[in-house]
Amino acid sequence: MVERAARVPVMVTQHPDWQLDELASIGRENLDPEHVARYDDKEDAGAAAEVALLTSLGYGPDSVLVDLGAGTGQFALAAAASFGRVVAVDPSPVMLGRLREAVRRQGSRLEVVEAGFLSYAHQGTAPDVVYSRWALHHLPDFWKSVALHRIRAMLPAGGLLRLSDVVFSFGVAEAAERIEAWCTAIGHDETQWTRAEAAEHVSDEHSTYSWLLEPMIEAAGFEIADAVYSEDRFLADYFLTATG
Ligand SMILES: C[S@@+](CC[C@H](N)C(=O)[O-])C[C@H]1O[C@@H](n2cnc3c(N)ncnc32)[C@H](O)[C@@H]1O
Repeated sequence: MVERAARVPVMVTQHPDWQLDELASIGRENLDPEHVARYDDKEDAGAAAEVALLTSLGYGPDSVLVDLGAGTGQFALAAAASFGRVVAVDPSPVMLGRLREAVRRQGSRLEVVEAGFLSYAHQGTAPDVVYSRWALHHLPDFWKSVALHRIRAMLPAGGLLRLSDVVFSFGVAEAAERIEAWCTAIGHDETQWTRAEAAEHVSDEHSTYSWLLEPMIEAAGFEIADAVYSEDRFLADYFLTATG
């Protein structure tokens, strides 16, 4: 298993006046009780498959996992049943209200912490895995790189960051046409995400290009062990290994 050396976290305890306010960049819908109440009906995070993938890599009852941007906790709740210690982190009190309710209902061992990429301070044995799905795009690029450095500082050498997000794996010249097609395609099935939500994602949030994100990932001290891009080039799933 991986070495569990303590590392000094980047910007864990200092909150200068130029620190990004994570609640201000959280995404309007993540504080909207109606959106949060409908979230699990409109989005299937594929939690069982993700848990199975991690299990196939050798993680199990001795493993410590942290889920950053856990939302309603689809993955974290499933993971808590398979791994030793799982901490679900999210800055949205509305998301966490729903998650805490599920924890109580299920009698889950999942730990829930109200914090974000820039404020979570891990306590106890270092995590073997940091997991994050569809959350990093809430930070502008400078802060993404701070978040990635903080995650690297939390992990021992050899630790895993499983990162999935809305990431644009195409060039600038194609962007307008592809984004319009993506918003239109999403708008065709408004029982799930709506065209307005897709448009808001692009106009107000901070999804970036794969060719900007990947150098940031490497500069933070990760090797890109695997990168899978969706056919429409709007989603990316990474396995990232913390280098020594
Ligand atoms: C689209 S939801 C994804 C939830 C869950 N990971 C999933 O896959 O279903 C995005 C989540 O990111 C959270 N988020 C927003 N800003 C964040 C930040 N700075 N740090 C961590 N999470 C953040 C939101 O509160 C929300 O729960």
